[in-house]
Amino acid sequence: MNSTRDKDSHPHGQDQKNRDDRYQSQTSFRQNNQQGKDQAKDRGRKDKDFSQHKGNNHNSKNNSRSVNNKNSNNHEQGNSGAGGGNIEDTRPDPLSLLSITGRLGSLTPHKPFFGNSRVVDDFEKLNKVGEGTYGVVYRARDKKTNEVVALKRIRMERENDGLPISSLREIKLLKTLRHDNIVLVKDVVVGSDLDQIFLVMEYCEHDMAALMDNVKKPYTPAEVKCLMYQLLKGIEYCHDHFVVHRDLKLSNLLLNSQGILKIADFGLARSFGLPSRPMTPKVVTLWYRAPELLFGDSNYTTAVDMWSAGCIFGELLKHAPLLPGKVEKQQVDLIIELLGTPHEKIWQGFNKLPMSSIKLPEQRFNNLRNKFPNITDAARSLLSGLLTYDPKKRLSVKQALAHPYFIESPPAKHPSLLPTHPEMRNLLSTR
Ligand SMILES: Nc1ncnc2c1ncn2[C@@H]1O[C@H](COP(=O)(O)OP(=O)(O)O)[C@@H](O)[C@H]1O
Ligand SMILES: [Mg+2]
Repeated sequence: MNSTRDKDSHPHGQDQKNRDDRYQSQTSFRQNNQQGKDQAKDRGRKDKDFSQHKGNNHNSKNNSRSVNNKNSNNHEQGNSGAGGGNIEDTRPDPLSLLSITGRLGSLTPHKPFFGNSRVVDDFEKLNKVGEGTYGVVYRARDKKTNEVVALKRIRMERENDGLPISSLREIKLLKTLRHDNIVLVKDVVVGSDLDQIFLVMEYCEHDMAALMDNVKKPYTPAEVKCLMYQLLKGIEYCHDHFVVHRDLKLSNLLLNSQGILKIADFGLARSFGLPSRPMTPKVVTLWYRAPELLFGDSNYTTAVDMWSAGCIFGELLKHAPLLPGKVEKQQVDLIIELLGTPHEKIWQGFNKLPMSSIKLPEQRFNNLRNKFPNITDAARSLLSGLLTYDPKKRLSVKQALAHPYFIESPPAKHPSLLPTHPEMRNLLSTR
């Protein structure tokens, strides 16, 4: 086996050591537990009312893991409440963009827009590792330090008033978040044109979607537990910092060669505050989209991320997508087939949702036990707690982390013991 984990190529040797200290043994890992976009691609397939989807001809790409709704975030109704964390959702002015690089000192009218920023020529592009909603991602070498990093070209498409809001939002968010389970943005660099902006990120050898597609052997229960624990720790950090990710899915989860899972792609993320303000329900890639979004709720909460976490949990257990709907109507049908038909008694406020009057299939039973006959009761209880219709009753991230699933045997595998795989992307990709 081509074990990339053994290579000492990680750019943060010391950081990694510190991280490893946290996971000294499986036992301490367990104890911790106890304490505990594709604008262009999407243009032709914006979500519509269920009725409009009927009989739609869908291109097979619709079924791919990359389908999402980042184009929809232009329709935000404004959602950054007072006290909503340190990231505002208002249109950033150039000064606040400058400040996010953290290295620009005072702005004088004579300085170019990006002042002292490093430039992309400081990096040698090695190969393309991903192409998503807002841009291409390269594996690259920092010519000065020799570090291998990921360079994400941010598509700077001008929006109504000339500023690429979605991109600025992502940069701003990512520069604020620092956690082992969230991809580290090391710098922001510019290209030859000022509208070429790249995020310099720590490089991760895999994304979880590519691994799922290429590795036929399913994860063991102890491996799934390790991955879920890390995912939930990353989500906990986001929610503690008033950030809702809104696009959690396997292709936005990276895995480095030390088995550390990193949440990436904050292109759809938002800060939130109290009282909550309406947000667009057209978020989250269909397969991972919470029922309140599918039924048109614009007052949703961090619970949408918890639903996605439930879908990811199911996918890791089954080694196949849990709810792979092609259109919204089919997505709702698949959810109903798995969990039964929603109604006011189990989901308070359901009848008031914009799409609740739609004719739904009759299904009285929850099929989680049939679909997952070989998992423990605790695993099924966590799955069911995450895949709960009523967002108010759905497990919060802290409740999920405190769930007996993380206490019962088998203990979560230590990240460094996760199976290693060759870096398929580098073998297959082009420059
Ligand atoms: N830091 C990184 N290290 C390695 N690969 C990455 C990194 N960031 C992104 N990628 C790869 O690029 C793909 C697209 O990146 P992502 O940030 O999700 O952009 P998009 O907004 O275009 O979906 C990911 O699915 C992953 O395969
Ligand atoms: Mg992505």
